[in-house]
Amino acid sequence: MAPPGPAGAHPTSAEPLSRSVFRKFLLMLCSLLTSLYVFYCLAERCQTLSGPVVGRSGGGEEAGTPGRGVSAGGPGELAAWPVAARRKRLLQVRPRPRRRPPASRDDGEEAAGEEESAGLAGSLGGSGAGSSVAETPPGTLALLLDEGSKQLPQAIIIGVKKGGTRALLEFLRVHPDVRAVGAEPHFFDRSYDKGLAWYRDLMPRTLDGQITMEKTPSYFVTREAPARISAMSKDTKLLVVVRDPVTRAVSDYTQTLSKRPDIPSFESLAFRNRSAGLVDRSWSAIQIGLYAEHLERWLRHFPARQMLFVSGERLVRDPAGELGRVQDFLGLKRIISDKHFYFNQTKGFPCLKKAEGSGRPHCLGKTKGRPHPEIDAQVLRQLRDFYRPFNRKFYQMTGHDFGWDG
Ligand code: A3P
Repeated sequence: MAPPGPAGAHPTSAEPLSRSVFRKFLLMLCSLLTSLYVFYCLAERCQTLSGPVVGRSGGGEEAGTPGRGVSAGGPGELAAWPVAARRKRLLQVRPRPRRRPPASRDDGEEAAGEEESAGLAGSLGGSGAGSSVAETPPGTLALLLDEGSKQLPQAIIIGVKKGGTRALLEFLRVHPDVRAVGAEPHFFDRSYDKGLAWYRDLMPRTLDGQITMEKTPSYFVTREAPARISAMSKDTKLLVVVRDPVTRAVSDYTQTLSKRPDIPSFESLAFRNRSAGLVDRSWSAIQIGLYAEHLERWLRHFPARQMLFVSGERLVRDPAGELGRVQDFLGLKRIISDKHFYFNQTKGFPCLKKAEGSGRPHCLGKTKGRPHPEIDAQVLRQLRDFYRPFNRKFYQMTGHDFGWDG
């Protein structure tokens, strides 16, 4: 009988069995670890292991950064990524948590309202409802999904506060080629020092042909905003929802009142000297309505053809008509139409028949379309007189009579 050979060659009866079991065990462990790593990668976590770090500083990277279709970190940033990791994801396990844009400072009520809207939109999910909370519904199994990439916005709703900006954004999100961040980023007025990479990171992912959007109504009255947006991209399309400045002022006051019920009356804030008819232009509720003055600043940086003025009144009366103009302006196929809206008697406003993602009817939150306090008719007349010359100038500049002085 031949003597036992080296291990593995002619094993003893006990040893070979345990060794082969051990080897099989090792093999299984290796494949298990490999599979786990692959799943880990597919869930995007491996990007943090091997991907380049996106610069987060403000200054240098912003200057001359191109806009449409170009990432904030410059073309080199994306070029450094493996194509497969960048473009395709076989299995989407769950969305990554997203950083929230900063909350409003001086308009807490607005922030609360917008948070509410953003949260609502978050529940909508899907392509049209880019929310600050989650880009895709949790647990989505997106086989062979081309996930796209984050882009700087090509179109921004820059104002005006209380004009109907949330309604416009929510309606636009129904369009499959529009993706928008839910909350107001306030980048060009409050967080500019954080840099364009930070800003871009707030945006939802888009596929080729989709437009990235955001809305921050305070941009329209922010001195630095036109130059800053132009520095991001001269091609940025700007949307401004305008509303009768008197009604807008009352709406603005109503919002503050809902948060701080002890503020002085509208009349006492609106006038320096009411009997002399001296309006207090320094009160922000009045100041924001001087549309012609704000517009002058924008026209120093953007050609008129790149700005669209949406009528806040018509957005309520005929949302599909106004959305038709907006889709044309953005170069989108006219998809949003009458069939997307119904008038909700309880709300007293048009609502969406089917919210993107949920398929259920969707009205804006309770901070949108709330009743205004009764304001003395004489006060309203005085304010109409005050705004008339500014409105006329605004009509001339935009080539459109919004009918606030009729
Ligand atoms: P009020 O609450 O004073 O009525 P913004 O979103 O820019 O803050 O504007 C808020 C305004 O949007 C509301 O002001 C409301 O009049 C207007 N709005 C326009 N369409 C609306 C809609 N479909 N539902 C609710 N509010 C709408």
